[in-house]
Amino acid sequence: MDLLQVIKQMPAQIREAVQFANGLSFDAQIDNIVFAGMGGSGIPADILITLLSDSASVPMVSCKGYTIPSFVGPKTLFIGISYSGNTEETTTCAKAAHKRGAKLLFVTSGGRLKNLAYETQAKVIAVPPGLPPRAAVAYFVFPLLIALHNNRLAKIDPLDIKLALEALEKPQWEEKARAVADQLRGVTPIIYASEGYGPIALRWKQQFNENAKIHAFANAFPELNHNELMAYAQRPGDFHILLLRDERDPQHMHRRIDVTKEFIRRAGIPVTELMLKGQSRLTKAFTALFLGDLTSYFVAKTRGVDVLDVGLIEELKRRL
Ligand code: F6R
Repeated sequence: MDLLQVIKQMPAQIREAVQFANGLSFDAQIDNIVFAGMGGSGIPADILITLLSDSASVPMVSCKGYTIPSFVGPKTLFIGISYSGNTEETTTCAKAAHKRGAKLLFVTSGGRLKNLAYETQAKVIAVPPGLPPRAAVAYFVFPLLIALHNNRLAKIDPLDIKLALEALEKPQWEEKARAVADQLRGVTPIIYASEGYGPIALRWKQQFNENAKIHAFANAFPELNHNELMAYAQRPGDFHILLLRDERDPQHMHRRIDVTKEFIRRAGIPVTELMLKGQSRLTKAFTALFLGDLTSYFVAKTRGVDVLDVGLIEELKRRL
């Protein structure tokens, strides 16, 4: 499998994925939504929660571990996401949510979660098998966006999806990613994002980890100004900062980011700014995510590592 080709199929995945939630309805009352998922199947929940923060009609939380919150009950919609369907943490949460009487929706390509769906009458969004889980992010995010919208749990404008697709299909991304990757030779990337894009910075980090086999760190404004900023009081090491900033950030956010940038450069650390453009948060989030996925691929190539290898993660899962 050529991961570059798979990454580049993201627009095609989105076109396919928007059909996956057709007819999915939750008839009973829902007071809160609890997502559970790990790694490549965990980040979709973080992205959804931030994208929908100003339109969600109920509170939404994301669980990345073995436990679900104490408030989970019959009026909870529990959404378990696992590409393989076999991730121990996610199946444990799903069983606990079932015991508490929550309504269940699983997003998976099969495995134990699919079997659990038969046993528990859970609804399922089936995603196509055969991909590395991290390459299925669009298959997770888009059907859930639509399912939540159709069930009046959040709002998404269909035009936003169309515009995001048009932006992703512009030819510039690969070249841009190669240029960013070129700047990251031999350094540890730190990704800082404007408020509202924290999960996108986290996605960049995770893709650098899994694809390029390097450490990477992520944080978001304004929180990083209250702690991580102090690391620039002296020269902190061989880092390169990537700043994901929204061209439509309010003035106070631009000011904050500009001052931070000045402090980082003063500490001798290079900064690359990536201005997120587009009419909606969805376009900005997904074009930034796409650029991050491509960049991590090219960093892997410059390092000569096998971009698909996740051997240590698999070995760990086997040994549990
Ligand atoms: C591998 C990857 C991992 C997995 C994670 C959970 O490509 O991205 O982060 O997503 O280990 O596994 P699944 O997705 O099968 O629940």
